[in-house]
Amino acid sequence: MAGRIEGRIALVTGGASGVGRATVEAFVREGAQVVLTDLNVEAGEALAAELGGKACFIRQDAASAADWDMVAAAVRERFGRLDILVNNAGILLKGSIEDATLDDWQRLMRINADSVFLGCKAGVALMKDSGGGSIINISSIAGIAGRDDYAAYGASKAAISGLTRAVAAHCRRAKYRIRCNSIHPDGIMTPMTAGSYPQGVDPARFTIDADPMNRACLPADVAAAILFLAEDGSRAVNGIELRVDSGQFVMSI
Ligand SMILES: NC(=O)c1ccc[n+]([C@@H]2O[C@H](COP(=O)([O-])OP(=O)(O)OC[C@H]3O[C@@H](n4cnc5c(N)ncnc54)[C@H](O)[C@@H]3O)[C@@H](O)[C@H]2O)c1
Repeated sequence: MAGRIEGRIALVTGGASGVGRATVEAFVREGAQVVLTDLNVEAGEALAAELGGKACFIRQDAASAADWDMVAAAVRERFGRLDILVNNAGILLKGSIEDATLDDWQRLMRINADSVFLGCKAGVALMKDSGGGSIINISSIAGIAGRDDYAAYGASKAAISGLTRAVAAHCRRAKYRIRCNSIHPDGIMTPMTAGSYPQGVDPARFTIDADPMNRACLPADVAAAILFLAEDGSRAVNGIELRVDSGQFVMSI
């Protein structure tokens, strides 16, 4: 049976770990050919090797314009097109407005927001030449809700929402057949949040697997939402903020 994105060419940044890794695995399972990029060469190459000929790894700093030029040229040369782009690479630095430094702010803006801006630019250029596609930007609940200890991180993720809507509107007006949506997860069990659970307590206790009303979801839960936005079944969904947070946001308003 054909997969849900059979034969599509997909690019996933930060694809070596957590949500990115789960997305690469889901895309390969559903029939896509995946280019995964990351700064972590060892983990990226290991995942590509595990997935055989369906995935290849390129070392990329997603916040570097030169690296985006290199990755876009490689995709164009190898596949001649791009159908799906997931701008997922990111970092987390905690801090309230009183604690966060200008260095924290600038680092988060560079890695979390510049990377998505550059990714959207490269994605639109590739996709408009090959009949359209789907761009999925990974933001956070911290980009929508007021989280006191995520001042700079939340701002970097809110930037993604505004950019996503502008890209969706531009591509619609230009009739490029490119959709652009953002995903806003909360509390995913990944290496990024490994230190956020009480010491000595098994983090699995907080997952949605342990209790469907718990807050923490798994990378595969986010990958499932990404897959939905990637496939043609979501063709009428454009410019949205999709929350994948086990209802945490509605509990806080
Ligand atoms: N874990 C959570 O609870 C959570 C919640 C909301 C949003 N997010 C977002 O989800 C995305 C994935 O996070 P995760 O939890 O899977 O984290 P993770 O740390 O497991 O994975 C992030 C990956 O991005 C890579 N990366 C970091 N900076 C990079 C750069 N400049 N260029 C290329 N690759 C880079 C890392 O090497 C790593 O492999 C991030 O954008 C994060 O902000 C995570």
